[in-house]
Amino acid sequence: MVIACARSPQATRPATITPTRCFPRYAMLPALASRALLLFLLPNVVPAGGRPIDGGSNMERIVGGTNADIKDFAHQLSLEVMFMHSCGASVISETFALTAAHCVFGMPRQPPWFVRLRAGSTSGFLGIGGEMHAIDYVEPHASFNKTTTDFDIGLIKVKRPFTFSSRISPIKVVDERHYVKVGSIATVSGWGMTSERALFTPWTLHSVDIPVVDRSACNHNYTAHGAKISERMICAGGTGDGKDSCQGDSGGPLISQDRQLIGVVSWGYGCARAGFPGIYTNVAHPDIRRFIREAAGV
Ligand SMILES: *[C@@H]1O[C@H](CO)[C@@H](O)[C@H](O)[C@H]1NC(C)=O
Ligand SMILES: *[C@@H]1O[C@H](CO)[C@@H](O)[C@H](O)[C@H]1NC(C)=O
Repeated sequence: MVIACARSPQATRPATITPTRCFPRYAMLPALASRALLLFLLPNVVPAGGRPIDGGSNMERIVGGTNADIKDFAHQLSLEVMFMHSCGASVISETFALTAAHCVFGMPRQPPWFVRLRAGSTSGFLGIGGEMHAIDYVEPHASFNKTTTDFDIGLIKVKRPFTFSSRISPIKVVDERHYVKVGSIATVSGWGMTSERALFTPWTLHSVDIPVVDRSACNHNYTAHGAKISERMICAGGTGDGKDSCQGDSGGPLISQDRQLIGVVSWGYGCARAGFPGIYTNVAHPDIRRFIREAAGV
């Protein structure tokens, strides 16, 4: 909300739904760079909320999640802009990664050299380790709508194929119309904010389990805030137990218990607010699944 593309405290823009969960946005680069600099200059910097960054020994990840190892999420990628974690993505083939449209929207089709993918690393933010991949081209869905965040799906083709290993491997993309049941548990992972008011994304990958919730109930709650949940979206979480994805998780994977990619982190109202589930792109929807098949051959 404060950060144009992400979710920030409601106080700033009361009745507005923040479109997406990306962090930082491509266009927000200078602001983010200065924040990174601040981190180095002021190790104990205290954000406006009054709590030390990542303070406390119980370092929460995502929101309400736990530390995760890249070996358990070998499909997880970090999209870096100017050496900083910007969005999540997933390996779906040797040369294609799946992400959210809003993560690559506004970039040139062939992005500059400083937009890259990091694979096989547990660390994020100013990531280290793993292997870096230059990008051949990015392709957001042609119907992506910035206002409604509908059709929030995009592909990234890497120049050099991923080297599959225990730390880098593709995730199965769910079949068309293979919809997940309401109430089934899904897992979301990423390097996103650990709370709605956090200033920095964490170093370590994290994950959390959340239930898929009914779309019309979810739509009912969101309608009160002027947003619409389309068929191309899945709602998960929002049960008031403090578990959710957040800024910086955008573009990352939501996987089912049988390890199929069912969703892509898209947007939400705040993070982990009761009654407001996180919204994920519905990968099994024909409009989305067909795009992946036709554009990536997966
Ligand atoms: C996006 O959706 C809004 C609301 O339905 C609509 O008014 C607008 O024209 C759409 N924009 C594009 C580019 O399709
Ligand atoms: C919608 O809001 C009501 C009241 O806050 C809540 O009980 C319900 O669980 C919410 N629905 C969803 C899908 O989160």
